[in-house]
Amino acid sequence: MKQPQIWKDLESAAEILKKQTGRETLPDTLVVLGSGFKGFEKNLSKTIEVDLSAIGSMPVPKVEGHGASLVIGELGGKEICVLTGRVHLYEGYTPAEVVFPIRVMSTLGIQRVLLTNAAGSVDPTIKPGTVVLIKDHINFTGQNCLVGADARALGQVFVDMGNAYDKIWRQKILKREPIIEGVYAGVLGPSYESPSETEMLSRLGAHVVGMSTVIETIAARQLNLKVAALSFVTNMAGGLGGVLDHEDVVELASESRGRLHQLIKNILGVDND
Ligand code: HPA
Repeated sequence: MKQPQIWKDLESAAEILKKQTGRETLPDTLVVLGSGFKGFEKNLSKTIEVDLSAIGSMPVPKVEGHGASLVIGELGGKEICVLTGRVHLYEGYTPAEVVFPIRVMSTLGIQRVLLTNAAGSVDPTIKPGTVVLIKDHINFTGQNCLVGADARALGQVFVDMGNAYDKIWRQKILKREPIIEGVYAGVLGPSYESPSETEMLSRLGAHVVGMSTVIETIAARQLNLKVAALSFVTNMAGGLGGVLDHEDVVELASESRGRLHQLIKNILGVDND
């Protein structure tokens, strides 16, 4: 039988990654950096860095200030992988392109993923500067990376989402960190929410809203990777605060960087066996 194209693409990207890193497999933990968490890779020692644009089929972020490399290195004596940027649906990428890096890295042995993002708050009690541990999501992007024959070639597509954000990992994090949990509504963007959309999301049970993460979580769960995810609240969602500006999002994120990096370190230190 003819090999599905998706496997060919994944295999050729994996081969390039192996060559560039000089490794046959990757460390078991991947961290994906969203705005706010940028620069975390600088905490790693003994690093190997691969520019994602060197890998033909790997989509490369187009939004300014969003980096694009895979860094492998040691943190607290343990090796991890960090993706310094991601691509978004709102840039015009397909769901399959958005999740391609996670799928490639899964073929090379990663087992758990910590996704991070910037988000708006739809809950008046959750203020900018807060970090929310995602306990569940609402996929409002209207898209899904498991649609179509390519996704079927990778495995079961009727993926159970009951424990998408790993409950045991979350419980361990909550025991150690003073952090709140919330539901993340993933939207397409790139315009921010209208006041009515914000109210709708709130009534439907969301606490924060953002333009990433949900599709990646779905891809990771199809591949049976363990997922945890953090939202850094950069602003109140439309209708709950002032005028929304991407610069404000980037600025608040950069002020909080040290605290956010420490939080990632603590979370990765949580025993996840
Ligand atoms: N809405 C959607 N995505 C976001 C927001 C927001 O208010 N802030 C940061 N990312």
